[in-house]
Amino acid sequence: MYAIEVENLTKIYGKGVTAVTAIADATFQIEPGELVAILGPSGSGKTTLLTAIGLINEPTHGKVVIDGAVVADGGWLPGLDLKRIRREKLGFIFQAHNLIPFLTALENVMIALEINHLTRTEAKKRATELLTALKLEHRLDNFPAALSGGEAQRVAIARALANRPKVILADEPTAALDTENGKNVMVLLKELAVENHSAILVVTHDHRMVEGFDRIFEVRDGVIVRETGKN
Ligand SMILES: Nc1ncnc2c1ncn2[C@@H]1O[C@H](COP(=O)(O)OP(=O)(O)O)[C@@H](O)[C@H]1O
Ligand SMILES: [Mg+2]
Repeated sequence: MYAIEVENLTKIYGKGVTAVTAIADATFQIEPGELVAILGPSGSGKTTLLTAIGLINEPTHGKVVIDGAVVADGGWLPGLDLKRIRREKLGFIFQAHNLIPFLTALENVMIALEINHLTRTEAKKRATELLTALKLEHRLDNFPAALSGGEAQRVAIARALANRPKVILADEPTAALDTENGKNVMVLLKELAVENHSAILVVTHDHRMVEGFDRIFEVRDGVIVRETGKN
């Protein structure tokens, strides 16, 4: 079973003369454990593609299947619990880390686990393990404002991975980081793909970051114009 299947996925913003086709007829499949880059210039539709897959941005046409479940087929399927699917199957990493400012690093990760019904004790244990693996064991009790950009981004990554999601969607996760921290994040994502068997889709416009990906999709004006890598 594929982790992600996308068939003729199209997103059109607006109507009539002002309509913008941000993604046109995208079709691809991603296996569990695959690390895939989406590369393209600003405005080419990368974020739209990611958010349309991630149940954040309703597709205009086409089909999206996550972990075997159809979630969109000409728009979201009626009656779906979008929040629940997002929470249980998807992990998001955004360019801006979106940490909750009044919670500590540890609490920011714990909250993702508690929402999925782990007890406070279990959540604390897993969050501590993850943050330790991300070399943040000395930062557990710090608030986001006291963290460096690289540290905050790693906390956001820990939070996205906390529930071992089948699908991880990352939108320019290294954009705010220096080269070294950017590389560390990529190494970590690669390990996760392998160990957790998660499918990871990473949007980037940085050609230096493409090492280590299994496949690369290049997007221009809403169209995947090239695919490189295996197959
Ligand atoms: N909410 C929106 N409403 C209208 N147009 C949008 C919206 N979001 C993005 N667009 C347009 O869709 C196109 C693709 O945008 P986006 O997916 O953000 O590209 P990228 O992430 O590659 O920079 C652009 O032309 C952008 O202006
Ligand atoms: Mg974008």
